[in-house]
Amino acid sequence: MSTLDSKLSQTLGALGITSSGDVQSLFDELASRLDKELAAKTPDEANFNLIKSAWMGRKSGILTLIGENWLKQAPATLKPAVGQALNKLKQHIETSLDAFRIAAEKSGLGTVDARDRIDLSLPGVIRPIGSHHLVRQVMQEIEDIFFSIGFSVVEGPEIETPYYNFEALNIPEHHPVRDDMDTFYLELPKGSPGPLLLRTHTSPVQIRTMEKRQPPVRVIVPGKVYRRDNPDATHSFMFHQIEGLAVDTDITFCDFTGTIEYFVKQFFGENVKTRFRPSYFPFTEPSVEFDVSCIFCDGSGTAASGQNCGKCKGSGWIELFGAGMVDPAVYGFVNYDPKKVSGFAFGMGMDRLAMLKYGIDDLQVFFQNDVRFLKQFP
Ligand code: PHE
Repeated sequence: MSTLDSKLSQTLGALGITSSGDVQSLFDELASRLDKELAAKTPDEANFNLIKSAWMGRKSGILTLIGENWLKQAPATLKPAVGQALNKLKQHIETSLDAFRIAAEKSGLGTVDARDRIDLSLPGVIRPIGSHHLVRQVMQEIEDIFFSIGFSVVEGPEIETPYYNFEALNIPEHHPVRDDMDTFYLELPKGSPGPLLLRTHTSPVQIRTMEKRQPPVRVIVPGKVYRRDNPDATHSFMFHQIEGLAVDTDITFCDFTGTIEYFVKQFFGENVKTRFRPSYFPFTEPSVEFDVSCIFCDGSGTAASGQNCGKCKGSGWIELFGAGMVDPAVYGFVNYDPKKVSGFAFGMGMDRLAMLKYGIDDLQVFFQNDVRFLKQFP
């Protein structure tokens, strides 16, 4: 035990200290001991903790011992001097330890730097490359098929005016089919021209295209559409459509069915059969609903288990999309002469086509973006 340590365990009286000058030199001794200790140690966290507890530890740190053995028991005449010297020492310890801690942190950083230094001989980081979403893949498949028969792609806005979304498609304001397409209207600032809505189908782009181009027109329009539907396995408030429009001087119903049949066979395979049923859309006349023979039971209506096929509910047919010959009334809105031109249009649900082709039974998986699903379609 050093003499200083033994002094710390005795009272000032026992040490024979009677003047404030003696007190001062005793404390100077302690301060220089701290300085020496700090200078002798490498600044790191472990040394910092050791020194800190030796000097400032609550139970038996040097400051505590001074308080207990020297200050408390000092004669009244010396108390102020001891108190002052103790405060000064305490400050000195704090500033010195602070500097030591900062030095420790700096050298600690130095080691991290060394650890992080780049080793050029190591293999590089492999960043997995993403892939197209299945809906995008299907969209490209569909586009390729239509490219091959002379169609081109056009796009239109997702925010539409009621004129393009409804009126110009021969759906006047109080027409009941608007109920089926109930959708999201935008809340616009007061005084701005409106109303505006999220398009309910890609059909407004038919109008936009015919306004800009003269026949012959052969376009497809892929894009997002919106309806106020609650999400379930076959519904979503947002989904994807691909619109088709062909207008020329001599397009017949046969061109229409031939084109659709060509597309369906290219997309699903040569063996599928197609049929159409009468339907109704205000902007096509006649209107049809196109079906394909069920891809899951080969149109038999019977599943492999011998029971009714669950996908086509035993009918052997799956409803695919709406279509028809462009209603002559629509030509009036775009200044085409209905006596000279004719054409057909169709609107397919892209998500639905993807679900049928790839055997997916829940529409929601397209929008949840779970990589375990996405990775199945690299
Ligand atoms: N726009 C219609 C719909 O969303 C589909 C359609 C498009 C029908 C073109 C006929 C012609 O239901």
